[in-house]
Amino acid sequence: MNNGIEIRNGQALIGNVSVSELARRCHTPLYIYDQTALEDRMKEFIDNFQSEKFNTSVLYASKAFSCIAMYKLCAHYGLGLDVVSGGELYTAYKAGFDLSKVYFHGNNKSVWELEMALKLGVGTIVVDNLMEAELLASLKQKPEYESCRIKTVLRINPGIDAHTHKYIQTAYIDSKFGISILKMDEIAQVVSVLQAAPGISFDGFHAHIGSQIFEKDAFMAEITKVCQFARDFEDAFGLVTRTLDFGGGFGVWYTDADQPVSIAEICQDIVHQSELEKERLNLSLETICIEPGRSIVAEAGYQLYEIGFLKETQNRKYIFIDGGMTDNIRPALYQADYSFDVATNMDSEKSETVTIAGKCCESGDLLGENILLQPCKSGDLLLVHSTGAYGYSMASNYNKLPFAGVVFVKDGQIFWAIKPQSFDELIERETVVLEEVQ
Ligand code: LLP
Repeated sequence: MNNGIEIRNGQALIGNVSVSELARRCHTPLYIYDQTALEDRMKEFIDNFQSEKFNTSVLYASKAFSCIAMYKLCAHYGLGLDVVSGGELYTAYKAGFDLSKVYFHGNNKSVWELEMALKLGVGTIVVDNLMEAELLASLKQKPEYESCRIKTVLRINPGIDAHTHKYIQTAYIDSKFGISILKMDEIAQVVSVLQAAPGISFDGFHAHIGSQIFEKDAFMAEITKVCQFARDFEDAFGLVTRTLDFGGGFGVWYTDADQPVSIAEICQDIVHQSELEKERLNLSLETICIEPGRSIVAEAGYQLYEIGFLKETQNRKYIFIDGGMTDNIRPALYQADYSFDVATNMDSEKSETVTIAGKCCESGDLLGENILLQPCKSGDLLLVHSTGAYGYSMASNYNKLPFAGVVFVKDGQIFWAIKPQSFDELIERETVVLEEVQ
């Protein structure tokens, strides 16, 4: 699978623009999004996550890739947002996003972040723990926030074991996120703090079981468990659950070893299962949400590099590229696999087994090992597929490499979403002479 690219005269094209043109006009390394693919994916989510029994809301988990252009696209296609920091919230605000459709997450929100949410009129705060509930309730008493109305949902941990990398599992029993459903009294205590605070409403629960999950059954088990919890909670404390947010985590294609379930199918099944549970358990459910991040942006995104030096060691053939772990930390951090092409030599057979290495001073800066690739020479372009999620958003300036630019391509046109960082921007916050802190 070539993940949506076209091939013409041995060259890869994305959004009807050749990789050579992209490299010439925008330079490498470069993050490229096929805008039509992004739009189609958003529509697929919205069209298939519909119910006649309750409201449905698709919240884009913007940690996967956050920028003003992306937030505007989400607004256009009717998605809400999941933000996890003051920075993501600020970006959404600057994009003119309707902040009443924002869910503000995080296990350790700062005082200033909660105040920012109240000031800007964020719709829903996803409360993580008792201390946060108490802090929010006390902030809400300040005269300047008296007139604010804010919804809350509480993050619970349903203890579902989804088979994914341990760094991206979130619902195991000792997870740092949320409160275990085994601790119902503690949950009731948090809810009573929220309910007692004027202007704060408690709407329901949020859960998220991890990321890059292919087992549909894990999501179905989550729904069953969370709905049953909502029923038990109502029975024990008389508190009605109106909103359930089941989080994100839908797996995507990186290599042919990945077999994702179609988004249409997963959305329909989540809705269907929730409808069944609502009926079976007689829940007063009014809204269900999901929070896809990766599955909206990953497959629409590519990274383009220029191949520099080639080198052979005793056992390896190295291809060096003009970026690396600074623009995609995932292979080094999670042993993540990707699919690659020599995008300027697409007509040749993949006949060389190579190691693709970045330019950082770090032996682990390898994008791929034992990769079967078309033959290449210095100056060719290397395309990495399905890099749209957690690439730019996890980038760093290690070795003082500037952030690469991000473009959206559509119907032969190229648009900057994020311009490349210049050297001056790289050092703009540094003092030339030490400044005494005032
Ligand atoms: N909702 C919550 C509460 C989350 O914590 C996450 C992801 C999502 C939604 C979106 O999950 P997604 O649909 O993107 O799988 N940096 C890692 C992934 C970390 C995911 C963190 N939470 C990676 O590159 O694989």
